[in-house]
Amino acid sequence: MKIVETVEELQTIIKKTKKNESVIGFVPTMGFLHEGHLSLVEQAKKDCDFVVMSIFVNPLQFGPNEDFDRYPKNFERDRQLANNAGVDLLFYPNVTEMYPTEPAMKVIVHEGVDVLCGKSRPGHFDGVATVVLKLFNMVTPDRAYFGMKDAQQVAVIEKLIRDFNLQVVLVGCPTLREEDGLAKSSRNVNLTAEERQEASSIYKSLQLAKKLILNGEHKAALIKAEMTTFLQKNSSGAIDYIELLSYPDLHQQEQLEGKVIIAIAQQYSKARLIDNIVLEI
Ligand code: PAF
Repeated sequence: MKIVETVEELQTIIKKTKKNESVIGFVPTMGFLHEGHLSLVEQAKKDCDFVVMSIFVNPLQFGPNEDFDRYPKNFERDRQLANNAGVDLLFYPNVTEMYPTEPAMKVIVHEGVDVLCGKSRPGHFDGVATVVLKLFNMVTPDRAYFGMKDAQQVAVIEKLIRDFNLQVVLVGCPTLREEDGLAKSSRNVNLTAEERQEASSIYKSLQLAKKLILNGEHKAALIKAEMTTFLQKNSSGAIDYIELLSYPDLHQQEQLEGKVIIAIAQQYSKARLIDNIVLEI
């Protein structure tokens, strides 16, 4: 696995690789890799000839009171995991390499961001879309792999690709879970032992919603109320949101129908966790 820290080196290698007509797969990450990221690499390896991973904690997508400074990092561990997973090229730029000058412009996302994480993290998806557009321009991948745990991010990137005519196929991959159902996330290490136990109730409440829907309950407000009661009873985390929306449009629905997302964000003492399921009704 080759590791490069500059855009120039990255583009030299990409240019050479493209001469062989290799299909380039791209897995953008913020590091502190877990099996969720590695499953994206595994899928990219199946579909592509050459897999690029980026590790960059993007300051643009963190609000002033968010966990940018606390975001977990361990490059040596990430390097080994990426290498073992079969990544061909690891792009590991620093902030100055990605933003050598104060940016004169950024991508503004104004659809599908007044709900879910976009609502409580104003500007977050502008930061995500801006860095992903930059990374796509640097790597010029044929296919890019994102986890469905961040389903709103997947929906935003789908629109980024559509609106800017980007020549990349987006592949949304299923959420990987711990044995008790907790979605794998780099932020899970910031949970206390007690919170870690309780955090499985996030997935359990999603399963509760699924069960209600399968039993014929389609009223969004009622399902949300049941989930709220369950979470309040089973965990100390504060509910940031529970939302039941159409997917990928992310519109409110009183009566659920078609493809829907049921999504939760919960704030624990030092970690904000998100999870969702997408169902066809
Ligand atoms: O999902 C993430 O880790 C980040 O939002 C991404 C896509 C790497 C952009 O910084």
